[in-house]
Amino acid sequence: MSHHLDTLFEFLRFQSVSADSAYTPQMLGCAEWLAGYFRKIGLSAEVHPTAGHPVVTARNEHRPDRRTVLIYGHYDVQPVDPLALWTRPPFEPAVEEGVIYARGSADNKGQIMAHILGVEETLKAKGDLPVNLIFLVEGEEEIGSGHLGPFLEAHRESLQPDVIAISDTGMISPDLPALTYGLRGILALEVRVKGPATDLHSGSYGGLAPNPATILARMIASLHDDEFRIAIPGFYDRVLPLQEWEREEWAKLPDTDDEFRKVIRSRGLLGETGYTSLERLWARPTAEVNGIGGGYQGEGSKTVIPSEAFAKLTFRLVPNQSPREIDALVRQHLQNICPPEVELTLSDSHIGEPFMSDPQSADGLAARRAVARTWECEPALIRQGGSIPILQTFQQVFGTDILLLGLAQPGCAAHAPNENFLVKNFEEGIRLNQALLEELAAVPAKS
Ligand code: BES
Ligand code: MN
Repeated sequence: MSHHLDTLFEFLRFQSVSADSAYTPQMLGCAEWLAGYFRKIGLSAEVHPTAGHPVVTARNEHRPDRRTVLIYGHYDVQPVDPLALWTRPPFEPAVEEGVIYARGSADNKGQIMAHILGVEETLKAKGDLPVNLIFLVEGEEEIGSGHLGPFLEAHRESLQPDVIAISDTGMISPDLPALTYGLRGILALEVRVKGPATDLHSGSYGGLAPNPATILARMIASLHDDEFRIAIPGFYDRVLPLQEWEREEWAKLPDTDDEFRKVIRSRGLLGETGYTSLERLWARPTAEVNGIGGGYQGEGSKTVIPSEAFAKLTFRLVPNQSPREIDALVRQHLQNICPPEVELTLSDSHIGEPFMSDPQSADGLAARRAVARTWECEPALIRQGGSIPILQTFQQVFGTDILLLGLAQPGCAAHAPNENFLVKNFEEGIRLNQALLEELAAVPAKS
């Protein structure tokens, strides 16, 4: 097998699941391995402990006459369940018909490894890089990057770049690359409704006892109106309307609805009235139920009124919504709906700010040239629907441009069974890194 795939496979074999403390030793092992690999290709590297999972940094020797580029990525992955739906074990990577299968192949190990191998190739061929380079690879992106902000503050001076490049987003299709200038933010919380002290016979008490599952269902139903707009008062107040140029640019993209239907294998697509699928995904906020439970879950029927019911909710937010403000609106709304006969508990929230940058900046134009050199076509200018929670902190702490140059396909099954990454896109990512560092090196320093 090729050196590139070999190296990626070693990285993919670490079970670096950040959400589950059972995997803490594998998280550390993965961070140590990564630092070792950086050293092997000629960079200096450190594993920095945090109150959570460690941060790995690496750099070449910096010279004052060169621009500094920071490349960010994450070595943590999402949990693998439901395991039964994987066609092969998630941490035993394999290539089949040009596709790499493994948890983390697309999100984000394959994408960050493309940059590392690009740097390795340049160092092998030329003995030096055109820029001062910093790799920053963290282990908590998939759980909200809670400890990275303080780490950045503490190391602000040694990490200060001129520009940040990230491959942790997607392409439009295998041959159509994208420069992503916007991502959605996120607000996550758990709702718990407690009724009677224990489960009750629903014949003896039905009609008398409050049913927490019914009340929770009403609360969830109240999040949307019949057109799938979000019905929480004030929710849309700060939403940045789609710009005309965005609507025009996105309307030129190939029609992806059939592709989406194929990928999600559902009978149809369903979302907010008045917007195209891409507009709904990239520029409109959502409210989602990620998990719901309470009451009898076993075979057959059991006539009970459950004592408790819960739901896990997330809201994807767009510029210029503030997750803190939306958090307050959501809490108020849920409390308003909940009757006093049950007890409502709302967990602490996790938040990630939405992100927006200017694709016409000098660095944005340089990134577009690097993409054009790699794929022989211009990147589409798009936003995407996912979240990278640390981006706003990068903007605040460093004040630099952030370039999102994704390599994953819409069908990459990130966070899902059979996650995958195209070998072709992996190799293109390696070449993109080489072109990108050259193009960014040539951008005049800001005075
Ligand atoms: N790579 C994704 C972000 C992403 C997804 C960008 C799709 C563009 C399109 C990232 O690793 C991720 O999954 N982030 C989480 C963050 C959350 C757990 C706080 C997300 O978006 O769910
Ligand atoms: Mn992810």
